[in-house]
This record gives sequence, C-alpha cells and structure tokens, in this order.
Amino acid sequence: MGAVGIIGTGAYLPEKVLTNADLEKMVDTSDEWIVTRTGIRERRMVGENEASSDLAVKAAHQALQSAGITADQLDLIIVATVTPDMSFPATACLVQDRLGAGKAATFDLSAACTGFIYGIATASQFIQNGVYRHALVVGVDCLSKITDFTDRNTCVLFGDGAGAAVLGPVEEGSGFYSFDLGGDGSGGHLLKQSAGGSRMPATQETVKNRLHSISMNGREVFKFAVRVLGASAEETLKKAGLQKEDVDYLVPHQANIRIIETAVKRLGLSQEKVIVNLDRYGNMSSASIPVALDEAVRTGKIRKGDNIVLVGFGGGMTWGSTVLKWTMETQGEV
Ligand code: ACO
Repeated sequence: MGAVGIIGTGAYLPEKVLTNADLEKMVDTSDEWIVTRTGIRERRMVGENEASSDLAVKAAHQALQSAGITADQLDLIIVATVTPDMSFPATACLVQDRLGAGKAATFDLSAACTGFIYGIATASQFIQNGVYRHALVVGVDCLSKITDFTDRNTCVLFGDGAGAAVLGPVEEGSGFYSFDLGGDGSGGHLLKQSAGGSRMPATQETVKNRLHSISMNGREVFKFAVRVLGASAEETLKKAGLQKEDVDYLVPHQANIRIIETAVKRLGLSQEKVIVNLDRYGNMSSASIPVALDEAVRTGKIRKGDNIVLVGFGGGMTWGSTVLKWTMETQGEV
C-alpha cells in the first residue's frame, strides 16, 4: 500500500464575467447586499454553446501538463458534477474521448459541492491498492444552466468553472493522510433541482413552474454548512494524527465568506491560512475547491511540504474533507 497524492492541478474559468452590477439590472438586489451577505463580487458564466465537458477538458489538459503525464497514461477518470452535459453518456466518457485517454475507466460522481472530495477519496483508493497508477479527477459545474435568473435568493450565488487534479503515487510520508466523508439524506430537500429525473420527468408544466432550476433553503443550508465544515475538518485532522497548529492552508468550499469565517473562527484557525477566491467566482459547486487549490499552487502560496486541508459541503446533504502533505514542486511566487 503506497502513498498517493496530487501530482498535477489545472483549472478553467469561462471568459464571460457577471458582476453584481449586472445582477442589479436583472433582479431586485444590490451590490451592497450581495457583498455583505456572501462576499461575492462577480462570477463567470459559460456561453450558450458551452457545456461542462468543454470546461472539464480544458482544466484536465492543464492538470496533465502540470503532472507531466499524457492522457494515455490515465487509468481512471472521475468527473464530479451536478450539471453533466446530459443524463448519459457520463460526462467522464465525453472527457475521456476528447482527451484521448483510451485505457481509462470512466464515471461521473454526484455529491454536489462535495463532489471533488468524494472523487479524490474514491480515486486514491484504486491507486493505493495498486489497481491503477494515475487518475484524473475533475470537479466541474455550469450552475448558470440550472439557475433561475428571476430568483434573487439563488441567482446571485453561483458561477461556472472547472478544476482538475491528477492523482498518482508519491514519496512515502506525503500525499493523503486521511479522508472524512459523510452524508445526511434527510436534508436533501434543502437544496435541489426537482425536475428532469425519473421522479418528475420534463413536461411543459415542469418547465413553466421552473422546476428545472435550483431551489434552496438558504438559512438552513447556512447552518448546516457552518456545522459540518468545522466538524469534518476536525475529524480528518484527528484521523491524520495532526493538530490545527500543523495546518499550513485550509481550502474550503467557496459558498459564502460568512460560512467560511464563522467555521474557521470556531476551528481556531487564523484566517490567513484560508484560501478564498469566492469574491471573483462565486459558488462553482464541485469546481470551487479544485479551482482554489490550483490558484494557490500556481501562485506559489501552497508549497512542497505544506499540510493542506480540503473541506467541502453541499447538496445531498453531503460533506467531506482530507488532509494531505503537498508534494508538487513549488510553482510560482506569492
Ligand atoms: N438581494 C437582496 N435581498 C435578498 C437577496 C438578494 N439577492 N436574497 C435574499 N434576499 C432577502 C430575503 O428575501 C430576505 O428578505 P425578507 O427578510 O424580507 O424575507 C432577506 O434578504 C434576508 O434573507 P436571509 O435568507 O435571512 O439572508 P441570509 O443572511 O441568510 O443570506 C444566503 C442568504 C446568502 C443565501 C445565505 O443564507 C447563505 O449563504 N446560505 C447558504 C447557501 C449555500 O451555501 N448554498 C450552496 C450550498 S453548496 C451546493 O451544494 C450548491
């Protein structure tokens, strides 16, 4: 059983920017409300003809380049998303084809904003057991495609993007130390896309009633998020035998600055150790953590030897975290 870690990262953000000022023209909201309640200033939006696989392929190319391997060396591709190109084939299959990763097994994974953590936890098991050597995990979402832009409760929160990581064997004593995954299906109704599945297939009625868009009980999700963010980070540190003082950087899911600040305060971590980019991208669901990670690596913030905690929470409800010792060579300067 060898050590497994992240050996390459990548990200892709669509070019189109939607600012709070743009949203002020669409719904009854204000830049001041959005910034004080969420911390978000702008987010990226895909074009009409772009879909999740397009973003995923671009992030994947970057991650492969950073790992120094080619697509034909991939044994497994997992795409974590709640906005697949279509119900089937899996977006992972579309990505595999476009990358030319002919020998890779492929599947999609649905754990909403925790999808990337579930994805790396799953992929790392195959590598640790010696079944596979290299896995690509992509977190991608185009939430703008399932957002109701007349609903101010949700439309100010979300953005589109993709982040990717290549996993492989790393030197002993580094890579993933622990994972903590959890779910609570009793809260599923708090955050959902009601129609379009086998329970409520698409009809003219479902479209008219906007049941293909995200609906959310923001207050309840907020309370849940604060609780599990801190609890899961603590649990994964405990499993790894580390203390909060050992943490160099925490990369949380980027939903709301108030969720992050409250949870981090309760954890007793300094805010300087927290990677935040939600002001520029909003909540990109499963893409949030890998995009924030990639930025922190490329700017030289996260450096070889650092202890990193990744922690996510989201629809389902789901949560998950991991502690890893960073192994990639330092890429840039802060
Ligand atoms: N602009 C102006 N006013 C607004 C807006 C808006 N965009 N949205 C809501 N309001 C109003 C509400 O209608 C309400 O008005 P009322 O008191 O007259 O009814 C008022 O603002 C306060 O609403 P609250 O819901 O109490 O506001 P809160 O401070 O809780 O902030 C928010 C709302 C930002 C949604 C917060 O609850 C939150 O961040 N929740 C977590 C959301 C989240 O993280 N979701 C993603 C989870 S991850 C995933 O799986 C996708």
